[in-house]
Amino acid sequence: MFPEKHPATTGRGIPLPLLSHFSAKRSATTCRYRCGDQCAHEAPNTSENTYFGDVVDTIVNRRGALKGAGVIALGAGGAAVLGSTAQAAESAVAATPAAGPAPIGLRFPPVAPNHRDAVTIPDGHRQNVVIRWGDPVIADAPEFDLHGQTPEAQEKQFGYNNDFAEIVEVGGQQLLVVNHEYTTEPHMFPSYDENNPTEQQVRISWAAHGLSVVAVEDDGNGGLRPVASRHNRRITLNTEFELRGPAAGGELLRTNADPSGTKVRGTLNNCAGSKTPWGTILSGEENIHQYFAHADAVNDPEQRERLERYGIGTGTSDRKWERFDQRWDVRAEPNEPNRFGWIVEIDPHDPDSTPVKHTALGRFKHESATIQISEDGRVVAYSGDDERFEYIYKFVSKARVKHGNSRHARRHNTGLLDEGTLYVGRFTGDSPESEIDGSGKLPADGEFDGSGTWLPLATGNESHVPEFTAEEVYVFTRSAADSVNATKMDRPEDIEPNPHNGRVYCALTNNSNRGTEGHAGPDEPNPRTGNKHGQVLEIDGDPTRTRFAWRLLLVCGDPEDPNTYFGGFDKTRVSPISCPDNVAFDPYGNLWISTDGNELGSNDGLFGVALGGPHRGLTKQFLTVPVGAETCGPVIREHFVLACVQHPGENSEDPDEPSSHWPDGGESRARPAVVTVARQDGGRIGG
Ligand code: FEO
Ligand code: CA
Ligand code: CA
Repeated sequence: MFPEKHPATTGRGIPLPLLSHFSAKRSATTCRYRCGDQCAHEAPNTSENTYFGDVVDTIVNRRGALKGAGVIALGAGGAAVLGSTAQAAESAVAATPAAGPAPIGLRFPPVAPNHRDAVTIPDGHRQNVVIRWGDPVIADAPEFDLHGQTPEAQEKQFGYNNDFAEIVEVGGQQLLVVNHEYTTEPHMFPSYDENNPTEQQVRISWAAHGLSVVAVEDDGNGGLRPVASRHNRRITLNTEFELRGPAAGGELLRTNADPSGTKVRGTLNNCAGSKTPWGTILSGEENIHQYFAHADAVNDPEQRERLERYGIGTGTSDRKWERFDQRWDVRAEPNEPNRFGWIVEIDPHDPDSTPVKHTALGRFKHESATIQISEDGRVVAYSGDDERFEYIYKFVSKARVKHGNSRHARRHNTGLLDEGTLYVGRFTGDSPESEIDGSGKLPADGEFDGSGTWLPLATGNESHVPEFTAEEVYVFTRSAADSVNATKMDRPEDIEPNPHNGRVYCALTNNSNRGTEGHAGPDEPNPRTGNKHGQVLEIDGDPTRTRFAWRLLLVCGDPEDPNTYFGGFDKTRVSPISCPDNVAFDPYGNLWISTDGNELGSNDGLFGVALGGPHRGLTKQFLTVPVGAETCGPVIREHFVLACVQHPGENSEDPDEPSSHWPDGGESRARPAVVTVARQDGGRIGG
């Protein structure tokens, strides 16, 4: 339940460095290699399910609808703790005098938008590079050699394009777990020929995907450095995964190489991720479509429609992998694409464990799954499908969690993700449709907000969607969600529950096609036509229930634009923010957001956002990443911030004349890397 419709707007502080005029956008190379140019293609969701808001009803019951969801939350027994935690958090922050300093965690001098080829951090802070693409992970790995790369070396070295990061404590050691979303061959290989990649280059790319587990220790100066450990591990496109859950073993997942439909070689395009309460890592396989070739040569109409709904590659693929392994050729292996697009689970406690792909959480362009434990002990996992006009999902387990991260508990809890109910979200606004004019102007009730319903898709082997078997729901989840009229969202990226207030926060990155000809128009959760800057959604309610309340925390962009919104906070005192991507929380419950594709022209950055009391909506930029890079994987701890710098220099017109030389400087090629930032005086981040 949200406490009030209009939060106080009297937050004070020094004015923040605002936007100057820049011009930079996500580069053509990033679009091609990260997403397979998906924005240049028509979005694959051509379903006609429209915004399902029962506007007349909500006008009559404007306040009632919101209260209703809240009452459900409080009346559910299980929500009592959630509710009281939320209220306690609100009153703690509300006790801060309006004229007082920012909340703890956000008391740092903000970084101004800029175009520097550097990680730019607040005054009084220091930074260190923890690990870069090609650095050794496994004990006998060779040092990185740009001109002497081999697949065997890459199998033991840190992969390319680090995205999600987390730190897991195992036996007194800190294990940094990072995923490697995708490869950008023209930047990896000097004089790369896009039309004729060599087998050696292709095999290096296979080894540069996946995840790394690497032990780290304090470098004695507030930073982290990698150390040898028996837990250090690379997971690549050559690592065997076990398919689990209700769709595993089914006909749709069988191939010539795996007639059992239960074993997949490798993982692709891992984007956002999370640490589970039982100490494992969940990571989402996102833009898997781009690696496959010749979907347009499939004649069976049903099969073809399914491939199109996921945008599976037509013609030859950009990377030409199909020349070296026919599993990437859909004509030869029509089910191989069905074996990617899942949530994968890695157990960093056991370097010999077989990673898992969880079919019960559905298949789409997964932005991770993040876990919340309900009052009754069931596990709830939230997930976004990051493409224009796609959906937000949640999964609720049938069985209950075992506490702790013993081997026994981990085995039990991993199994929780094999059986439960998969839902998709429908969001209803509480303002009249006429007040959502596509500009971003707030409706008369002062907020973009309303209520919502989680629509069940399947429970175990039972489908809730007419004309879909349960197996089809899990493997072709997008199509199943189309037919229940889920709400088409503006690129749902990372979604994560805040352990401090029980609410769930989702970054909706942008959607240039919203409201344009032939596409769904603006609605209250996605209120801007041609949405360039994105928004951040806040969801409240008992996680096991099907009703919830929602509101927009941020409508991103230039604060001087009257149609942006920063939680009701004074917009002369916030940092400009564009294209929210990953979300995380600091130890005090503030939201942290990393950005991808800043449409205001600055380099991308990392921001802290206050969520409660008079500072709600205060947004401050903590760092910016180098030219052409995206900020990913934030981990916010008491004494350091860890961030992944993905694809630095990828906006270079000529990869052999790179726009970035970060982190090594001079004439070096840019290398994706992980950095930490700490205070020079050793103090707490953000005061
Ligand atoms: Fe890989 Fe949705 O960003
Ligand atoms: Ca409203
Ligand atoms: Ca991302």
